[in-house]
Amino acid sequence: MRTKRIGAMFALVIAVSLLFWPGGCSRNRGSDPEGHLWWQHAVFYELYPRSFADGNNDGVGDLNGITAKLDYLKQLGVDAIWMTPCYPSPQVDFGYDVSDYENIDPMYGTLGDFDQLAGQAKKRGIRIIMDFVMNHTSDQHEWFRDSESSRTAQRRDWYIWRDGRGPGQPPNNWEALFGHSAWQFDAKTGQYYYHYFYPQQPDLNWRNPAVKQAMFDVTRWWYQRGVAGFRLDAVDTLFEDPQLHDNPVLPGTNQYGDPKMENKYNDKLPEVHDVLHDLRKVADEHQGVLIGETWTADIAELKRYYGEHNDELQMPMNFMFATVNKLSAPEFRKQIAAAESSGGWPVYVLSNHDIVRSYVRYGDGAHNDVIAKLMAGLYLTLRGTPILYYGEEIGMENNDPQRKEDVKDPIGKIGWPQQKGRDGERTPMQWDSSANAGFTRATPWLPVPPSYQSHNVEAELKDPNSILRFYQRLLALRHENPALLEGQYVALNENDPNVLSYVRQYKGEAVLVMLNMSGTEQKVSLAVPGFASGTVKNLVSTPVAGDRQLPLRDVSLPPFAVYIAEISK
Ligand code: GLC
Repeated sequence: MRTKRIGAMFALVIAVSLLFWPGGCSRNRGSDPEGHLWWQHAVFYELYPRSFADGNNDGVGDLNGITAKLDYLKQLGVDAIWMTPCYPSPQVDFGYDVSDYENIDPMYGTLGDFDQLAGQAKKRGIRIIMDFVMNHTSDQHEWFRDSESSRTAQRRDWYIWRDGRGPGQPPNNWEALFGHSAWQFDAKTGQYYYHYFYPQQPDLNWRNPAVKQAMFDVTRWWYQRGVAGFRLDAVDTLFEDPQLHDNPVLPGTNQYGDPKMENKYNDKLPEVHDVLHDLRKVADEHQGVLIGETWTADIAELKRYYGEHNDELQMPMNFMFATVNKLSAPEFRKQIAAAESSGGWPVYVLSNHDIVRSYVRYGDGAHNDVIAKLMAGLYLTLRGTPILYYGEEIGMENNDPQRKEDVKDPIGKIGWPQQKGRDGERTPMQWDSSANAGFTRATPWLPVPPSYQSHNVEAELKDPNSILRFYQRLLALRHENPALLEGQYVALNENDPNVLSYVRQYKGEAVLVMLNMSGTEQKVSLAVPGFASGTVKNLVSTPVAGDRQLPLRDVSLPPFAVYIAEISK
């Protein structure tokens, strides 16, 4: 009897572990009592392989470097890593110009190194998300090499080739996002090809079924290698108007000196949704998750990316936080309310490899560390799935180039000085206070800012009040607290101009969050519906950690303070 019970318990433990273990038999299918899937409770972490950790000391990060840091990520509380592209690439756009989708660039290692990384990550319960560059390939990809070889090449129609309007005149007025005409003349075949980004990134022709098939097969290939999903790059621009209508021109010029225009005919065409719908079917066959680079300032438009029947992207990114460039309780409240009203599972983006780091965007120069904690308090207590950008957890700042000749990102060269490029937010991870922040023993491909001496992993692990320790505490709480995992978002004190307050409420439990977004002390009185006479227990707070209990009336919050507490009836 006893042995039978132990046997049954053992079987239960195994079954439960298989449910939640990456690669377990019911991976991704297992949902919690609320019907939530693994990615809804996971914390994602974007890392830029060039800059995360340099395993072979050549100045550029690599896969073995990442493998060596998996314990750090585990300790931080990361469940999935999204790696920006590490496929073979001429690196014109630092990997977003892929020349072979089914391999690893030698600069980053080998497929064997990838398997090693994936295996070690799996052991720690960390899933891997690849970046899938769908809109374009590199001009060095064999598909394009064939396509450009002649007008009758087998793959000519895999890209967008058109005759000019006349001698020296491109087919229409469309402009590349990275400056100047979106058309590049090819003297050999006498036609222009279309590129939404750099000329070295020709757009694939998604109207050609062979392209769709080949690209879908790429995802199958990686699923079979064990990846848990994809971050889909630049999905908005997969299709163009086949009639090539000119875009409407707007007044003024952009940062490249080109006329401003509305991308009416080459951005967000409805056909995008057909592709996403079909790609989701492939993902579902492999229990994969699709995250989308879905730039929009319109919540209704964002909503469409989930699909009419939740059959497109599980995680379309909401970039609207990134447009709030100041600490403002009303602004963030408005963005959260909009996302909540859309009904989809929110995926807010605060920082990434294309956006100035939040440490600089919100910092006032004097209280940046406490403001970094404030932003973590916001980002990690909202409903939805967070995607941390590497280095945010230690308060890394932008290190923008000071001179044009130091710029590595081509858009910084084209648009200098108005556009300095994205090097500043892509600098090496700061591991310790030794030379080059412990990232490499060679010269790093981008310089680290002087602040690495104080803002690095080693130093911050030793300091109980560091930004890193704050992230660790908050992430641990987020993983175990049912209200933070499952709870509804309920806005409080909606007219308060300084303090953003809300509760995350689940069954009889609630977590209260108060964020003082001002530089002065604020007094707040709260009425939490259903918890009028309840008790309050401090979970995490700043500026200084402590377990001080506060009443719900007349709470006094120091400048930029975070106060997160559990309330019960
Ligand atoms: C996406 C990437 C960006 C890249 C561009 C072109 O926006 O995030 O870094 O330059 O696509 O692939």
